Amino acid sequence: VSSAQTLNRPIWLNSASGYVQVIDQRRLPHKLVIADLKTVDDTIHAIQTMYVRGAPLIGVTGAYGVYLAALTAPASDAADHLEAACAKLKAARPTAINLAWAVDRVSALVQTAADWPAKIALAREEAGRIAEEEVANCRSIGQHGLALIKPLAAQKQGPVNILTHCNAGWLACVEYGTATAPIYAAAAAGLDVHVWVDETRPLNQGSRLTAWELGQADVPHTIVTDNAGGHLMQHGQVDMVIVGTDRTTHTGDVANKIGTYLKALAAHDNDVPFYVALPSSTFDWALTDGLAQIPIEERDPDEVRLVAGLQDAVEREVLVPPATSRAANYAFDVTPARLVTGFITERGVCAATPEGVAGLFPEKIKS
Ligand code: MRU
Repeated sequence: VSSAQTLNRPIWLNSASGYVQVIDQRRLPHKLVIADLKTVDDTIHAIQTMYVRGAPLIGVTGAYGVYLAALTAPASDAADHLEAACAKLKAARPTAINLAWAVDRVSALVQTAADWPAKIALAREEAGRIAEEEVANCRSIGQHGLALIKPLAAQKQGPVNILTHCNAGWLACVEYGTATAPIYAAAAAGLDVHVWVDETRPLNQGSRLTAWELGQADVPHTIVTDNAGGHLMQHGQVDMVIVGTDRTTHTGDVANKIGTYLKALAAHDNDVPFYVALPSSTFDWALTDGLAQIPIEERDPDEVRLVAGLQDAVEREVLVPPATSRAANYAFDVTPARLVTGFITERGVCAATPEGVAGLFPEKIKS
């Protein structure tokens, strides 16, 4: 995948064709495959089958999906087509709020255009704007997170050990990442950092994607099994945890990749700071009880039963359990606010409380 070294974004508009292109993340780290998204159905398929994944990227992809729906709308019932396409896009994956947020934002703007060519242009521009905003958000998250890592680096000899779960890197976020942005910023500032990468079963976003990203950036890292975090924390091997999130209530509850909650419990028990890095597009400003209200996606059990990898230079999938055993595939869990040390946002770091979040984003809170 050497040519991937020249890529630093997982999605872009091909200005020559007018179509959208994405890295097919299912094939990483072993193959770099670029896929064309030409229609809204291509887009929905790419989101559901996880060519693209990660909350901010799903949002940007959904935004471009609205553009593609407008671009390919049949003249006879263009408005109905667009409305139905937006509803289908928003339902493609339920947990990450960025998807509905971005689709609603683009479709609301499109309504304001007078004619169809203007709608297409507005949708394309707004999707691009959202992508650039997420890049800027991630860059700021990196700087605010760096301020948390610096004191840890100053008070210890040897590397600051940061544990992360899933992939909240540039592959999930357009550039820099959310959870990885402070790590990249620390490495760029010359701090000695080492990352414990949870492999993140069943789809191995950690061992496939985060490890690949960190390797490309020459950041020292070690892949561990999802269950190793507690042991590492008990033995003083983790200085902080930073994870991303798919949806976080403004009251502080965090939905993220399944297994995040167990890391938060272990961090709490071992006095290890547990931070969640997120842009404002991932806050849910309506919900107040994450455990009761955030929809948790259940995916195909075959993702649990089958493991994919490379054998003799050929990509293969193998069956692990008995062929007749049932499997269940809960994709996310909710970490209650009380287990979260703080949020790292584009506007700074705050407590995982309604007051902490409102302090940074007062304009979002309805009185
Ligand atoms: O199922 P995925 O790979 O889309 O899940 C992604 C995650 O859980 C990430 O941690 C989350 O979206 C944050 S990405 C910045």
